[in-house]
Amino acid sequence: MQTRASSREMSATPEQLAARAGRVLRLNDMGDWTRAAPNLYPHQWSWDSAFIAIGLAHLDTRRAAKELLALFSHQWRTGKIPHIVFNPEAPPESYFPGAEHWACASTSSDAPPAPPYTSCLCQPPVHAIAALRVWEVAQRNGGEEAIAAQAFLQEAYPSLLRWHRYLLTYRDPEGSGLVTIYHPWESGTDNSPRWDTALAAVEVGDLAPYPRHDLQHVANASQRPTDADYDRYLWLVKLIKNAGCDEMSIYRYHPFLVKDVLFSAILMAANEALLEIAEIADAPEEDRTTVRNWIERGRKGLEVRWNPDLSLCSDYDLRAERPLSACTIAGFAPLIAGGGRSDHLGDLLRIFDSRAFAGNPDLRWPLPPSTSPGESGFQPRSYWRGPVWPVMNWLLWWSLKRSGEKKRAARLKGYSLAQLLDGCFGEYYEPFTGEALGSDDQSWTAAVALDWLADEEVAEKP
Ligand code: DGY
Repeated sequence: MQTRASSREMSATPEQLAARAGRVLRLNDMGDWTRAAPNLYPHQWSWDSAFIAIGLAHLDTRRAAKELLALFSHQWRTGKIPHIVFNPEAPPESYFPGAEHWACASTSSDAPPAPPYTSCLCQPPVHAIAALRVWEVAQRNGGEEAIAAQAFLQEAYPSLLRWHRYLLTYRDPEGSGLVTIYHPWESGTDNSPRWDTALAAVEVGDLAPYPRHDLQHVANASQRPTDADYDRYLWLVKLIKNAGCDEMSIYRYHPFLVKDVLFSAILMAANEALLEIAEIADAPEEDRTTVRNWIERGRKGLEVRWNPDLSLCSDYDLRAERPLSACTIAGFAPLIAGGGRSDHLGDLLRIFDSRAFAGNPDLRWPLPPSTSPGESGFQPRSYWRGPVWPVMNWLLWWSLKRSGEKKRAARLKGYSLAQLLDGCFGEYYEPFTGEALGSDDQSWTAAVALDWLADEEVAEKP
């Protein structure tokens, strides 16, 4: 693997880039699951694994199916797919908070009772989208692979349905169609300014000292969430554990309770994929009616969260009973959900192309920063407060294609691949310099590169 120092030639052919991406996935391959990154993230992360399966499909559809089934085998009794499945072989000082800290099995009878243990949280539900993509690639390949993928979808379908049902019941007792998260880690966009106001209202109590192992694996602490953020993250974990992970008591007492529009939009797109999977798996008509209702409810819920001042969607703080109006990439939720109002789509595309996001003239590549440079919480090197995330570019590219925005999609793919020619497969990128930040050899970055490279549509040349 190239080092950052030697990786600036930016001249790989598509074949060379695909070969490098494949090497990253092999480097992180643990048999039937994949580490999110070699050092910083030595366990299986839920939404990482879904994106990884999309990339693996281009190397081996059976292995891609295994990635998802391995994750589903740790599903909670409630239907929750946990955000981390801990690798019992990972050195104890490699990641914090690890399995011992979470201690979910002794906290909740809904958690898997034996190792490998999991965390108590969940992450955005990209899984049905990934499962369908694996099936599509296998159908294209044909023969035994296509037959195996059919069996895979039959096996995966009940887990996916339970997972989505969990999100639309336990995480939406209001029936709003939108998912409530209990922790910024559930959003996947941990330190985004989206959460600043809601987190500021969380009063941190007594916390035992804890290590920041994550800081050992990045060049500079400024690329990761701050200690103050971490105090709040760990305090929220403590409260969730004190509640025995009981959803009803979390709902009643927990200080961080937010309707997350990005998570919800991904669920809506995943419900559309689930509907297709239900057809393929010949599921009962009753299930399909349920999923159609979920989609309709979700669209209505997202419409309520439209923020005309930003021309984006805003999250909603259930505790404070007010919208959280930061200008971040999560605001493109209706584009990701699909099927929304066409006037909103027009507004979203205008904002996407504007200097608030991909049209900012100072960007290294015209790729949307995770937080708008005009937002007061913007920090170009800090995790979700500004850097460009290839995996978000994939989600937006996929959504643009689904919305018929082929030209924009081709442009986004072209520049996203140009950014990855440095061969680092960084976790995220400084938007103005294009410098790779966070972890190198990040599995999901390699995975989305493989999917882009396999896509038939011609990328626009930067
Ligand atoms: C981390 O450790 O940074 C993760 O985002 C938490 O899941």
